[in-house]
This record gives sequence, C-alpha cells and structure tokens, in this order.
Amino acid sequence: MSERIGILTGGGDCPGLNAVIRAVVRKSIIKYRYQVIGILEGWRGLLEYGLSEELNLDKVAGILHRGGTILKTSRTNPFKEKDGVKRIIEKMKALGLKALIAVGGEDTLGVAAKLYDEGVNIVGVPKTIDNDIYGTDYTFGFDTAVNIAMDAIDRIHTTAESHNRVMVVEVMGRHTGWIAIEAGIAGGADFILIPERPVDLDEVCESICKRHQRGRDFSVVVVAEGVKIKLSESGSRGDEKEEKEEMLVVQDQKLDAFGHIRLGGIGKVLATEIEKRTGFEARFVILGYVQRGGSPTAFDRMLGTRFGVTAVDFVHEGKFGKMVSLQGNKIVPMDLKEVTNKTKPVDDELYEIAEVFFG
Ligand code: F6P
Repeated sequence: MSERIGILTGGGDCPGLNAVIRAVVRKSIIKYRYQVIGILEGWRGLLEYGLSEELNLDKVAGILHRGGTILKTSRTNPFKEKDGVKRIIEKMKALGLKALIAVGGEDTLGVAAKLYDEGVNIVGVPKTIDNDIYGTDYTFGFDTAVNIAMDAIDRIHTTAESHNRVMVVEVMGRHTGWIAIEAGIAGGADFILIPERPVDLDEVCESICKRHQRGRDFSVVVVAEGVKIKLSESGSRGDEKEEKEEMLVVQDQKLDAFGHIRLGGIGKVLATEIEKRTGFEARFVILGYVQRGGSPTAFDRMLGTRFGVTAVDFVHEGKFGKMVSLQGNKIVPMDLKEVTNKTKPVDDELYEIAEVFFG
C-alpha cells in the first residue's frame, strides 16, 4: 500500500492556494506514489469527522487559475479546543497519514510549529496576502493583492482628479504595510500610511496642502488597515487640545480563535480628519476582501507551484518542522520555530522610495 500524506489550508484564503494543492498532489502521486488526503476547513478537518477526502489527479485538474481553496479554510485553533492536540494526533493515525503539509499564515504555521513539538511530522507552506511572514521574501497571494489594489488606485485617480478630491484608499495589512507600500508606489499615491511608520496627522495634511499649493487639486492617500491613529480633541478648557492614545480602528470588539480583532475603518476616520483639517473635500474606499479574491497572477501561480512541489520533497526527505521559503530565487527550508511569533516589516528602503513621491 502506498504511503499517505495530508494537506490542509488554514486562515484567510488567498489566490494561489489551489496552485499549491495541485502541485502537492501531482508531485506526490507522480514522483513518490504517495496517496494524498485533503483535510477540509483547516484544522477543523482534523478535529471533526467526515472532513477529509482523497485527492487524485482528476480532483486537482483545472484548479490552477482559480482563487480560494478547494479544501476550504477556517480560523480554527486546535490549542483552544478540548483535547485538540490529542484529537489531531488520533485523527492523523486513523487516516494513516505519515505526514501533514499545512498551508497557512502566522496562525496556521504557529499551530504547525507546536504540533511538531508534539511529535507530528509536519511541513509548513507560508501563505498570506499580507506578505508579513518572517523568513520568506514573498508569500503567494501578495502579488495578486498588490495588482488588484494598484488597479483600484488607478481608477480612484481619475475620479479624484475630476472632482478635486482627496481620496483615501484603505487596503489590507494587519501588522504590516506591504500591500499599501507596493500598491501605493506602483499606483502613484501621494501619501502612504503603514503600521511600521507612525506619522502625525498634521504631517499628512501638510503634505497634501503642499501638493495642492503646487496646483495639484487632488490627492490619493493609501492606508493599511492596521495603522494606528492618534486624534486630538478640544479639551474642556476652550481650544486647548487633549491628546488621545494611538488606536486601531476596528469593526467590533470580537476576537477570532487566535485573538485577532477585525480591523477596518481607518480610511473613513482619515478622510474625515483630512477634510476637517485641510478643508479639501475627501472620500474613502475600503478595498477589503476584493484583494483576496479571484484568479492569482502568474507570479503567485509560480510561487505556489514551487512551494507545493518542494514541500513534498521535504516530506520525502524527512525535513519535518520546516517551512518552505523563498530567499532570493531559491526555495530553502526554514525552521517553523524560528519563523513563528515574528513578523516581517516593510523595508526602510522601500518606505524611503515611497516618500520621494509624497506631497
Ligand atoms: O491575514 C490576512 C488578512 O486578509 C488580513 O489582511 C485581514 O486583516 C484579515 O486577514 C481578515 O481576516 P478575516 O478573513 O478573518 O476577516
């Protein structure tokens, strides 16, 4: 009987996941004669019954160009479930899995690192549109998101110009501003706000005013959802200002299974403040999940394919507790333990390039 390996996708979906699944299945079956079991809905599929299916060549035919994940996903955290780890180990045994490939972002890979410590043969594949996973130059999904955001910024430009407005475009990026900085530079943004570089609202407004004094009557500002903002309000004694704490703008107070809050709305706060302080008419748009949907770019299909093929090699070579990562143009192993609990901030150099075009 051939050996069996499992694959799951966890956390937020992103374009390129199906490229990984297809590559894992084809490499496993054609090169190593492994049987591949698809675990459905992320870690939930290893905690509950009936959430797995065999993946053969037919199942992965025609999925390369499709967004999302044919395995579905969830933000289930097995370490928050009663006997979670024990149940996962038992389920893997029951399915006859010699190893598991876990495709996901910081949370999924964090769980993978801990399960490796518990004796599970596991290989990680980094995924997120945010591109903030430590130890890999790029994650797939990011390039697609940047292109979607750039296209949106291009469209926003023409309407901003027609109306002489300041348009604020909010993009995703919980901890880091990779999408904002790259889509902002590529789209010719007049100011970019990212979590790594806290700026004063006065600085943003001054920059916009300077631009408008030069005769440019419109501006496009790009902001990452994870930017913290400090507002000041008139205090009780006349026009004395009371400084407020820096804060994240959130949709509600609910946390997910990994303790993350749902971000969103900084664009609106920023547009309101800019209009109040500069007198220029301002509008905002939140790109949201549009950035995560649809067909992956060629870059993301390539990266997903390379990651998938190499992850199966790692399984075959017994390189467990590792993550496939892109360094330069090579796919190399990184210790899961080393990459989790860290993020990869936007390079200073990239921010300095962006600044050249502010104002
Ligand atoms: O981590 C990727 C990401 O798209 C973030 O940019 C965003 O804050 C988050 O996922 C949204 O998560 P959810 O799908 O749970 O709303």
